[in-house]
Amino acid sequence: MAFSIEPLSDSLGAEIRGIDLSQPLDNKTFARIEDAFHAHSVLLFRDQSLSADQQVAFTRRFGDLEVHVLDQYNHPDFPEILIVSNVMDGDRHVGIYDAGKYWHTDLSYMKVPSRGSMLHAIEVPTENGEPLGDTLFTSTTAAYDALSDDLKERIETLEAVYSLGHRFSRLVEDGDTDAAMTEAQQERAPEVVHRVVQPHPVTGRRVLYVNEGQTARLLGMSDAESRDLLDTLFGHIARPEYTYRHKWREGDVVMWDNIPTQHLAIQDYALPQRRYMHRTTLRGKALA
Ligand code: OGA
Ligand code: MN
Repeated sequence: MAFSIEPLSDSLGAEIRGIDLSQPLDNKTFARIEDAFHAHSVLLFRDQSLSADQQVAFTRRFGDLEVHVLDQYNHPDFPEILIVSNVMDGDRHVGIYDAGKYWHTDLSYMKVPSRGSMLHAIEVPTENGEPLGDTLFTSTTAAYDALSDDLKERIETLEAVYSLGHRFSRLVEDGDTDAAMTEAQQERAPEVVHRVVQPHPVTGRRVLYVNEGQTARLLGMSDAESRDLLDTLFGHIARPEYTYRHKWREGDVVMWDNIPTQHLAIQDYALPQRRYMHRTTLRGKALA
């Protein structure tokens, strides 16, 4: 199948044009998409119409899928689909309503983080015809490369604690009194330790892996030192020269590599402006 690849920004992302993801893809076409995924880290496919099972089938071409630990938001018929939405059913949230409130990468709080995630936009909130609820992506390879040699050396062998509980504590601090994990969820996602600098499993390029939402602290130093260094790194990762801001359209499918990128959701909309998306999440391999 013939398709084109157009870069979305200087640092990361590409749009793939001319592919219908609801149809089975031949191996050669799929291999080119997978190469583009590793080269650009974020892929956009516009004007897609994918049922839940078609999205699961396309994601499976890349490998095994995760069933998300926040299981109250998983699709009732397709547990591999996590619903990302602000929509309510009575007083129940139908999906995770505050996904991506802090810069993060998916499942960095698991022993084996995710390889990549895919969001299919089914409803996009708008105001005066303009989309709201953009998502920012940043290249943590570009961010790593731009660090001073001193800082690179300082963090090379550092380790950090990652936890989903940390994200929930931040949400509560920021005023979301409903944010809570069940005991079973806490057991499935205990604190884990990963290195701060990770080589990408395919490209080998180094990435800055600590993230604002899920990294609780650095090991081997005082809390104050850890806070200071993390704040420096988080500020650096979010610099505009490494980022691409995605303005959603209904029918968009955006897929990102969870190792060399982080993402952030802009929460500038509220009901009755509805946002409704289906996410699939690829299982990863053990980190270095
Ligand atoms: C996610 C996420 C951000 C968004 O689905 O992993 O962080 O903009 N979403 O919905
Ligand atoms: Mn996310």
